[in-house]
Amino acid sequence: MNFIEPDGATPLDPDERLGLKFSHITTRGQLDELEQSNIEQALGWLSRRRGGDILDDVFVRTLHKRLFGEVWSWAGEYRKTEKNIGVDPLQISSQLRMLLDDARYWVENWTYAPLEAAARFHHRMVQIHPFANGNGRHARIAADILLEDHYHHPPIIWASGFDLQADSNRRAAYITALRAADAGDIMPLLAFVGG
Ligand SMILES: Nc1ncnc2c1ncn2[C@@H]1O[C@H](COP(=O)(O)OP(=O)(O)OP(=O)(O)O)[C@@H](O)[C@H]1O
Ligand SMILES: [Mg+2]
Repeated sequence: MNFIEPDGATPLDPDERLGLKFSHITTRGQLDELEQSNIEQALGWLSRRRGGDILDDVFVRTLHKRLFGEVWSWAGEYRKTEKNIGVDPLQISSQLRMLLDDARYWVENWTYAPLEAAARFHHRMVQIHPFANGNGRHARIAADILLEDHYHHPPIIWASGFDLQADSNRRAAYITALRAADAGDIMPLLAFVGG
């Protein structure tokens, strides 16, 4: 298994690849399909669930496990290796808790309009990059849960008819907006999410 990753993706290291629960996979397309069907199941669970707060780090991990746990043995566990994106693995747990505390403050004090809070939350989550893979998908869903549960606001139209995982203009705009946010300018990401 050796895939060409789209721009802005983080390659897996050999140990992480060993966590693949299916041995017969040889193409990126097969992996995408397995992950997609796991995600669809998880979205069903998400809509039926009672309780669980996205501003609670245990639930952040539970969500990742639900989304990817059928495919990857390490789903729901913080990554242990360095990536081209993301904080030092030893910093993940504290940085994530800091983000969740900040986001709770934003909600309680109406610091930002809903879409701006969601954009900032999403960007900080992918910048921390808590997991070995699936961070983009997990943090897009997490931002939508924040909107729904804490702002009673409809979800973001992330893909607008395109597949955000594949290389497309929409993906390029998304990655460019995240890089601007890395540099301190949230406006392109805010425009991207429609805020
Ligand atoms: N410069 C950047 N700053 C912050 N986050 C970034 C940057 N570049 C990419 N990302 C995020 O990292 C994600 C890729 O990480 P990862 O491969 O773990 O997630 P994924 O869900 O598998 O990816 P995908 O977006 O392909 O679904 C991107 O989707 C994006 O959210
Ligand atoms: Mg990926």
